[in-house]
Amino acid sequence: MSLLTDKKILLGITGSIAAYKVADWVRALRREGCRVTVVMTDAACRFISPLTMAALSGNPVHTSMFAAEAPEKIPHISLAREHDLLVIAPASAQTIARLAHGLADNLLATITLASSGPVLVCPAMNSAMFQHPATQANLAAINSYGYVVIEPDCGKMACNEEGPGRLTEWENVRQAILTAFAPQDLAGEQVLITAGPTREPFDPVRFLSNPSTGKMGYALAAAAKQRGATVTLISGPASLSAPPGVRCIQVTSALEMRTHVLACLDAATIVVKAAAVSDFRPAETADHKIKKGQSELSLQLVANPDILKELGERKESATKFPLLVGFAAESRDHLKEGARKLKEKNLDLIVINDIGGTETGFGVGTNRVTLLDRNGAQEEVPLLSKEEVAHRIWDAVARLTDNR
Ligand code: C5P
Repeated sequence: MSLLTDKKILLGITGSIAAYKVADWVRALRREGCRVTVVMTDAACRFISPLTMAALSGNPVHTSMFAAEAPEKIPHISLAREHDLLVIAPASAQTIARLAHGLADNLLATITLASSGPVLVCPAMNSAMFQHPATQANLAAINSYGYVVIEPDCGKMACNEEGPGRLTEWENVRQAILTAFAPQDLAGEQVLITAGPTREPFDPVRFLSNPSTGKMGYALAAAAKQRGATVTLISGPASLSAPPGVRCIQVTSALEMRTHVLACLDAATIVVKAAAVSDFRPAETADHKIKKGQSELSLQLVANPDILKELGERKESATKFPLLVGFAAESRDHLKEGARKLKEKNLDLIVINDIGGTETGFGVGTNRVTLLDRNGAQEEVPLLSKEEVAHRIWDAVARLTDNR
């Protein structure tokens, strides 16, 4: 299962060399369980064959207003009605101009006019064409109709020129699709999330750390953004890209993470501490690499500040404080330990993570958690992708913010 399972996506392909890239998007959508129907303009058919798109989508491709088969169904109206989301990619300058002016002179333009659901437009064209005031005015017009325009990337294009106009990457489109389907229940919230491990160095090349990859925290950041929040992510070393539209602050150690969390606290309305912060750090960090040759080496450790506990303490005396969400990664007595931490750290919600199995916890793409809130409500979230778990966590947070 994915968040997109069974969604009906209508994909409109227009005449741009980037049409071939969208063939891969169809495969990605189908891997997530979407049902994809493709509509192509005449120019698109010159760049990529409808046969390719039919094979990849598993559905007939529509190219004409006047289809020979089933004309009684009025193709542009039935296609406009029978999907959850229309994605136009690549969107040529010509198609954008058509949409801006409400023309209905081909199947795709007509479907767009007849469609009442969300429309995503992914422009792709030469930079001069993209930057031309006419195209910019057309983009502003379609924006004002409520269509979501996903900015093209900057870079080298097929015409050998460099600049804005290159078709955006699939991940940006995927996030925009998820946003179109997500409830906007975090609109107006300023969300601060910590993610990943911390590193506590004891010489210039060695450190203490843990296996956290940051996946859960990054998934929470992406999901909060999709649900309308303004998101700041404070991340320990992780090899993940920040989700589109999320401000990311990179840190290394627990002390550095604490400094940034405190600096961002005033602006936050919700704080989620998903980071696996090292509880201890070496008492000293050697200036130079510690040489081998000794048969033993002892490291003295000192406790790191518990950032979340400190926030919980501040919350006690504050009249207004962000909603506090913590994590408890436990290998035994997880419910008991989670309940204790919820109380001890003065949290509104705790996400209890049983790290005993191979499908949950550090590094893997899935998770199984128990949510426990300050009112005693307990929810078992079954084994799901971390992306889906993230949305379940936000569902629980949204219920708490409703009663704020
Ligand atoms: O007590 P424990 O370390 O299990 O608590 C985990 C929760 O506390 C997580 O939300 C984690 O991000 C946070 N934490 C923290 N600072 C620490 C240790 C944990 O903020 N030094």
